[in-house]
Amino acid sequence: MDQGEFSSSLSSWKLELRFSLMTMDDIPQIAALEKMCFSMPWSERLFINELENNNSYFLTIKIRNELIGYAGFWLIVDEAHIVNLAVHPEFRRQGMGGMLLKNILDMAKQKGALKATLEVRETNTPANLLYERLGFVCVALRKGYYADTKEHAVIMWADL
Ligand SMILES: CC(C)(COP(=O)(O)OP(=O)(O)OC[C@H]1O[C@@H](n2cnc3c(N)ncnc32)[C@H](O)[C@@H]1OP(=O)(O)O)[C@@H](O)C(=O)NCCC(=O)NCCS
Repeated sequence: MDQGEFSSSLSSWKLELRFSLMTMDDIPQIAALEKMCFSMPWSERLFINELENNNSYFLTIKIRNELIGYAGFWLIVDEAHIVNLAVHPEFRRQGMGGMLLKNILDMAKQKGALKATLEVRETNTPANLLYERLGFVCVALRKGYYADTKEHAVIMWADL
């Protein structure tokens, strides 16, 4: 599926968006998207581990069964630790990332989280702006955190 197929009927494909919890069947598509989006992608095995972790929650967003994004968090006591968020490059800047993040934050709140935290590369402007827009504030920098580029990690928190 490519975005061109939808460009003439933007509102109708948005009606076809479906959020659902990640299942084993999603993992090959998630791992493929992960490779597209990150310089240090998680393997399929790591996502399978998430399905086996009772404190881990992953949501997918699909159009007609095509996975176009996913996000996940770990619930640690009353904190939601956001561990992944990605949207297929062809579907960015159309609100998907924001919707995914809002959905996982709502889910975290329902499960008792009072705060949410995440780490993001300092140079990742789209993600930094998205997180700020949804109420996250930078509280610290973890210097040289990312092994591949030695970039700093921005540590952000939000009250839920
Ligand atoms: C970060 C990411 C998930 C955003 O997804 P998205 O679907 O494009 O985000 P949205 O359309 O919901 O954007 C919401 C807001 O975030 C900000 N934003 C998102 N992408 C942006 C960009 N490229 N440039 C500037 N601001 C951007 C804007 O404020 C935007 O609102 P606007 O479009 O009304 O201006 C996506 O770029 C992605 O998958 N990146 C690669 C993976 C990644 O870096 N994940 C985060 C790891 S911490």
